[in-house]
Amino acid sequence: MSKAFAVLGLFDSADALMKAIPKVKARKLGRLETYTPYPIHGMDDALELRRSPLGGMVLVMGVIGALTALGFQYWISAIDYPIVTGGKAPWSWEAFIPIMFEVTVLFATFTAGLGMLLLLNKLPFFGHPVLSAKAMRAITRDRFALAVEADPELDAEAAKAALKDAGAQDIEVLDTPEQTPFLTSDFILRTLGGIFVACLVSGFVMFWAIKLFPVLPPMSHMQDQPRLSAQQASTFFKDGRGMRMPVTGTVARGYLPSATGTQEEATALPNPLPRTPEVFAQGKAAFTNRCAVCHGAIGNGMGSLTAAYGAKPANLQAQQFRDYADGKLYWVIVNGKNAMPGHAADLDENQRWAVVHYVRALQRAQNAKDEDLR
Ligand code: HEC
Repeated sequence: MSKAFAVLGLFDSADALMKAIPKVKARKLGRLETYTPYPIHGMDDALELRRSPLGGMVLVMGVIGALTALGFQYWISAIDYPIVTGGKAPWSWEAFIPIMFEVTVLFATFTAGLGMLLLLNKLPFFGHPVLSAKAMRAITRDRFALAVEADPELDAEAAKAALKDAGAQDIEVLDTPEQTPFLTSDFILRTLGGIFVACLVSGFVMFWAIKLFPVLPPMSHMQDQPRLSAQQASTFFKDGRGMRMPVTGTVARGYLPSATGTQEEATALPNPLPRTPEVFAQGKAAFTNRCAVCHGAIGNGMGSLTAAYGAKPANLQAQQFRDYADGKLYWVIVNGKNAMPGHAADLDENQRWAVVHYVRALQRAQNAKDEDLR
């Protein structure tokens, strides 16, 4: 004889069922469960069911979701690829709220759904043994069942007696059903086989679909939309040109906005170039080509042109210019000073800053301190 899974006692009314619960419970025979045609108030308390942990799980996962979204967006916009969008600082948490909300809801709903189905309802175990009871039909109509279920063992005779004493009109004993394990090798093989066949079929279908309809590139409407190319004429704009001037104050990426600023603004700029041999070589070349004729090879204002030149080039070795900030030297190179022409057109951004480094090297070479010599 197979083992009993549950003993069902049937009652005629919800009242009778509720009254029977404490009596049967007192005997401590196994897990108590009720099956009724409709939900009955007070049943949870009568059975002393503990509160579902689902709410707590959802809360925890929701918080994790919010933090995940916050951290992810922080990493993207403040660390990995900081782009200034709409003038906002990279770390602008207010902008992250919509995504945080979405991910919170995503994590929470998935936890609620999957947690309920897989963890708490113990799927994929489809079907409860009690569903196969003969009394099931009556239970879904007008009868109320109290079941003593194996936990893990069940003394069927004692349970029968207990239910009878508590006033049950009919008693049914349910045997433990044979449970086949879910993940059999057969099941796994069939599933994998099914996936394989599905891939094969869809692969062939795609292959032939593309072969037969080669004139249909995907998303061509994005590619072929009307647009103006650079230098193209346009009837749309009043000046007849397709190209627009950038907004005033636009700064090209990778360039410092200094050439147009005031000397005070430029003074605050740090030299963006590192002090490497390549940078010094570049600075030396530019200085020799552009500055040495007037300022001399060591920058002391004694260039080959100086005698013939009406104005007196500055002695860059003077304390005054040794105290100049890098940005101030840079500004003079760009804008010139009185008789000295600006070199914005002759030297590009990098060359100018490299010259600044080189002028510093010249100054240090002539005014070396003790520690420079070590
Ligand atoms: C055509 C000659 C000439 C050339 C070329 C020249 N300078 Fe000058 N430079 C001058 C003269 C003249 C002055 C003095 C301007 C004044 O104070 O009236 C001067 C002044 C300066 C000053 C001092 C500015 C100040 O604030 O007083 C610096 C720094 C300077 N030059 C750097 C350079 C550098 C770097 C180059 C090369 C990129 C260069 N100059 C090229 C003629 C020249």
